[in-house]
Order: sequence, then structure tokens, then C-alpha cells
Amino acid sequence: MHIAIDGPAGAGKSTIAKALAKRLGLTYLDTGAMYRAVGLKALRLGLELSDGAALKAMLQGTILRVERGKNGLDQRLFLDGEDVGSAIRSREVSLAASAVSAQRVVREWLVAMQQEIAKGQNIVMDGRDIGTKVLPQAEFKFFLTADDGIRAARRHLELREKGENIALETVLSELRRRDLQDSTRAESPLVRAEGATVVDSGDLTIDEVVELLLALMGRR
Ligand code: DC
Repeated sequence: MHIAIDGPAGAGKSTIAKALAKRLGLTYLDTGAMYRAVGLKALRLGLELSDGAALKAMLQGTILRVERGKNGLDQRLFLDGEDVGSAIRSREVSLAASAVSAQRVVREWLVAMQQEIAKGQNIVMDGRDIGTKVLPQAEFKFFLTADDGIRAARRHLELREKGENIALETVLSELRRRDLQDSTRAESPLVRAEGATVVDSGDLTIDEVVELLLALMGRR
């Protein structure tokens, strides 16, 4: 079984996809983390993030490895052998991931890897192009969204819990910038896949969204 969950930043995709995978006993893959790893390396090398040729050369010397715990849920990501699980979570890397993800060479590299991971596995994947490109044949497709004010407030709280004190307006403007970039790029823009059910997570708790998705799948 393949389940695709797409949607804009901060809609709760990762948390919900992971919870859903746990309930159904499936593997979970966070594809955004993979774009973040590419963005991180490009930033570290000081590359122009829109330079497809430079990114291509970089990827030729890059090894990205996804390791999963025995439960199939906890994902560890190794960039050239380094565990980059926390390094990829900064605001700077969020924006860099969005920038490099607009480049075809990056998408081709990662989509091939993601499809290889999904082969012969029951999996829930979350991202921007799962229902449209990575798993177009997925049995279940969801487009998870929420008002951008709500998404920014959630991100703001997450950052505060990590000890980062950033103005809510800054979080909101960075989120809007990413949404705009992700949904207007030429390569696999963020759009609702045909057949995907739109779920607004704005007024719902994580558990409520998970229950709703299970109900929509006929699993409850
Ligand atoms: O889901 P996230 O916020 O970790 O993703 C980071 C960026 O990566 C996002 O702004 C756009 C890009 N991305 C993508 O283009 N396609 C995906 N399947 C997942 C993420």
C-alpha cells in the first residue's frame, strides 16, 4: 500500500504521516528532509542555489543515505556519512531546500531515490509532489493544508520550544515565501494531485486528523 501526503509547509504533514504509518504498521519517509540535505550541502559549499550545473556537479559527489529504525518510522539521514538530522532543521536550510528543490537535476536525483525506496514496500510518504510525481499510483492521496496564519503560529511555537526566539511575522513571511516558491516553480510545483482529498488541519488536533484520514481510507 502506498499513501501520499502533500501540502504546504507547516500543515503538519510529517507528524500526521508518521502517526498514520504507526497506526497502519507502514514505513514512513519524510521526503522534505532529503531536499533539506541537498540544500544544506549547497549552502555549506557556498553554491548559487539556482545554479543547476553547479548542483549537478555537487550531486555527482554526494552520497545520501536514509536509514530507518526497526519500527520503520524513525528516519536517520546521512549526508556523505554525516548524520544531518538536526542540521537540516534550521530556517536557513528550509529556504535553501525550497530553492534547490526548484532545480530539475535535484528533483530527478531525489525522486529516483524515493521511488526506489518505495518499491515493494508499504509506505506513507509526505512532501510536495508525492501524489503527482513520486507515487502517482498511490492507493490513497491526501492534500493537507491549513490557513497560513495557523501554520506560521505552529512553526513559531516549534521554534520557541527549540529556544529560537523569532518574531511571528518573520516566520509567516518565510513560510509565505516558501509556499510561493514551491507552488509556482516550473518543475513539479506543489498542487493537489488528481484524486487527492483535501484535508484542512486548521481546527483539528493531530489525533483528529489521523482519525479523519483513517476514516476516509475506510480503516475505521
Ligand atoms: O517538507 P519540508 O518543509 O521539510 O520541505 C523542505 C522543502 O523541500 C520545501 O520547501 C520544498 C521541498 N520539497 C519538495 O520540493 N518536494 C518534496 N517532495 C518535499 C519537499
